[in-house]
Amino acid sequence: MAESVADPARRNWVMATCGVGAVGSVATAVPFVASFTPSERAKAAGAPVEADISGLKPGEKTVVEWRGKPVWIMRRTPEQLESLKKSESMVADPKSDRTQYPTPEYAKNQWRSIKPELFVAVGICSHLGCSPSDKFVPGPQPSLPDDWAGGFFCPCHGSTFDLAGRVFKNKPAPDNLEVPPHTYLSDSRLLIGEDKKA
Ligand code: FES
Repeated sequence: MAESVADPARRNWVMATCGVGAVGSVATAVPFVASFTPSERAKAAGAPVEADISGLKPGEKTVVEWRGKPVWIMRRTPEQLESLKKSESMVADPKSDRTQYPTPEYAKNQWRSIKPELFVAVGICSHLGCSPSDKFVPGPQPSLPDDWAGGFFCPCHGSTFDLAGRVFKNKPAPDNLEVPPHTYLSDSRLLIGEDKKA
């Protein structure tokens, strides 16, 4: 059942994201797909994607594409990690027990990641598939509570997430942001789409 909700939502995201160029590209869609190299075809089908995170500074976020979805990689600052303690009692599922987007065991912790500072998540709202915006600056601002500590805001229906992608209570999103399978190949290389095998 979860998949039947999730998949259309993700298709919507892809369609929304590609919307600007969609009209003009219809006529060339088939030749474009046909020109995929084998590795590009493998990526589109779900092959793991490697990311170099050596240049990612504290407080910065980058995005890579995996299975047609945006995967966020963020290096959180000590202050941002500290904010997760504050949001613990304000989020709907602090332990990531919900199962619409099951959280891997290695991310079932307060920071929802393998390494506390490095957050890896699919940047698609678990409600209807919009892509939440970065709202890293703490404090009062439009559409957010006055005690905002930094996180993500989904403009479609107002769901808010803390800096571990945990949805705040009483929001339409039914689950936290998805943490995809991932593993570190080294300190600077991250593999998204595959867990470390023993
Ligand atoms: S799609 Fe994010 S709140 Fe509805």
